[in-house]
Amino acid sequence: MFSTLDLLPPDPILGLSKAFADDPSPDKIDLGVGVFRTVDGATPVMAAVRQAEAACIEEQTSKSYVSPEGAPGFNDALLKLLLGADHDAVKNKRAVSVQTPGGCGALRIGGELLKAAGGETVHMGAPTWPNHTPLLKAAGLATHMAPYYDYGTSSIDFAAFLSHVETLGAKDILLIHGSCHNPTGADLDKDQIDAVLSAAEQRGFMVLIDIAYHGFANGLDADAYVAREAARRLPEVMISYSCSKNFGLYRERTGALAIVAKNAERAAATRSHILSLARGAYSMPPAHGGALVAKVLSTPDLQNAWRAELEDMTRTIKTNRSLLSKTAKEHGLGAQLDYITTQNGMFSLLPISEKDVQRLIKEKSIYMAASGRINLCGLNTANIEYFCNAYRSVVGA
Ligand code: LMR
Repeated sequence: MFSTLDLLPPDPILGLSKAFADDPSPDKIDLGVGVFRTVDGATPVMAAVRQAEAACIEEQTSKSYVSPEGAPGFNDALLKLLLGADHDAVKNKRAVSVQTPGGCGALRIGGELLKAAGGETVHMGAPTWPNHTPLLKAAGLATHMAPYYDYGTSSIDFAAFLSHVETLGAKDILLIHGSCHNPTGADLDKDQIDAVLSAAEQRGFMVLIDIAYHGFANGLDADAYVAREAARRLPEVMISYSCSKNFGLYRERTGALAIVAKNAERAAATRSHILSLARGAYSMPPAHGGALVAKVLSTPDLQNAWRAELEDMTRTIKTNRSLLSKTAKEHGLGAQLDYITTQNGMFSLLPISEKDVQRLIKEKSIYMAASGRINLCGLNTANIEYFCNAYRSVVGA
């Protein structure tokens, strides 16, 4: 059987880390995979998470199975963090959450749930995270790319996006990035979110919010606007959540699939289907990361420390955005990278062709996704001049 299988190329994002690690150049810069990095290029375990881990190990008495919903306390704490403890959907139990193996697990199981419930096509603004399409297609859904990002102006073409959204119907699903759009960094503003939610109210399509960078744009509450408003205004919403970046739990594969339904009884029925789909795929999520999140969120001192650390990480990325636009000007690139300071999260798209991306990788050892997506965390005062000089020499002023 295996003789029919061709060798596949490395993953377009995860494959960059291996290529970077194998590159002997002392000048190499890693702008690839979306992980936070300090100015020294490290991705440390967050201090609050480390303390939570010590406490969890101390308290742990068994490795027996946890419930299929995940680690005790995880789901309630996560819903309160995302929607707010006073949100109507939380208070009335219209919102339920199930811990999943990362945001990918949430998207895959969520996709299967949508398919089982009669959903047909997921519409996504272009470009989107390259793994959205395979994850949702594997769940049996069709996918459609809608206009979203205007490469000419490095900003959202909202008129084109909304006019597509206003064609959607009851069997359609619209995927919206909760905050810090991946790969563009260009988020919808509040008015634009409100217009999209009005269209969902009028036309009855499902909104799927993928939130993998909660807290990295304007703070945990502000970044939850789309999820909170959708849960307030719409009878049904689906949310995939990742704790990889904001808790730094990448390899622990910790995420959640949350849904908001018309009432508590519909929410409980929907959760039973999520649990059944999870049982058929991986039985239950790994407990460790969920236990750490539950511990951080249920311990006031740890939660405060975690929030402060997340704010520090966000500040570092914003500083890197300013550093890039300022240094680009000083190196003869004019204002062409100024838009980067207006965007959110780890990523922005450079106005660069795929051919020039390959030249930056091969000739300058600067690694980024083929789309020109850069992770701003990879830039710092020590490498910014090398980056700007290399970029100018390849792309031109
Ligand atoms: C990214 O976009 O770089 C991250 O979300 C990592 C991944 O799984 O692609």
